[in-house]
Amino acid sequence: MTPDVRIRAVQAAEIVRLRAALLGFVRRHGERRITERAIRWLQHVDGAKLRSPGTVMLLALALRRDRAPVPDARPLIGLFAAGDYGLSASFLVVHRRARGSGIGRTLLKTALRLLGRLYGRIALDNAASLAVAQAAGLIPVRRTFTPKGAPAVVVAGGDWTEEEVRQCARSVF
Ligand SMILES: CC(C)(COP(=O)(O)OP(=O)(O)OC[C@H]1O[C@@H](n2cnc3c(N)ncnc32)[C@H](O)[C@@H]1OP(=O)(O)O)[C@@H](O)C(=O)NCCC(=O)NCCS
Repeated sequence: MTPDVRIRAVQAAEIVRLRAALLGFVRRHGERRITERAIRWLQHVDGAKLRSPGTVMLLALALRRDRAPVPDARPLIGLFAAGDYGLSASFLVVHRRARGSGIGRTLLKTALRLLGRLYGRIALDNAASLAVAQAAGLIPVRRTFTPKGAPAVVVAGGDWTEEEVRQCARSVF
């Protein structure tokens, strides 16, 4: 990943102020891949939840405005969020014009390092998401379905357990 990008966690006290910008970013760059339940999680997550174990929200920010994907626009170029180690929510979005430079992989790797374990559910037709998960060290562990019934896979990394993989496969987010 380019050194002009900084990864930082959203602090509990910031979430109310940042929420609208994060929701807009997900809508603009999520390619309709982010489920309604995950968006609802982002609409309602509060400071207490952000401080709870297994929950993290990471931003990728372009340090130099002139190198930002859209010059003079907001510096936000990536977002990863996980609730309950990814069991209640887990989603990753990178700005369309910033893709392919390792930002998604770095966000996922950072989250995995901070949380110790991480789960996600990925539709089998989402090649980019499957590739980025693999690049960050998450492995496919169980077949499942998206909330809309499309074939999907549960991916897990770190100190994952079979019981939590089953929970993730059943999860409706
Ligand atoms: C999925 C997504 C987050 C990937 O972000 P990214 O920053 O472009 O990914 P990276 O640059 O970190 O790529 C990591 C690896 O995945 C591979 N990859 C990325 N996009 C790919 C694609 N479309 N097809 C195949 N491989 C791809 C890269 O080659 C790289 O592999 P490497 O480590 O072997 O070099 C981005 O495409 C996105 O925001 N998509 C829309 C939202 C979405 O689908 N989110 C996931 C569901 S929650």
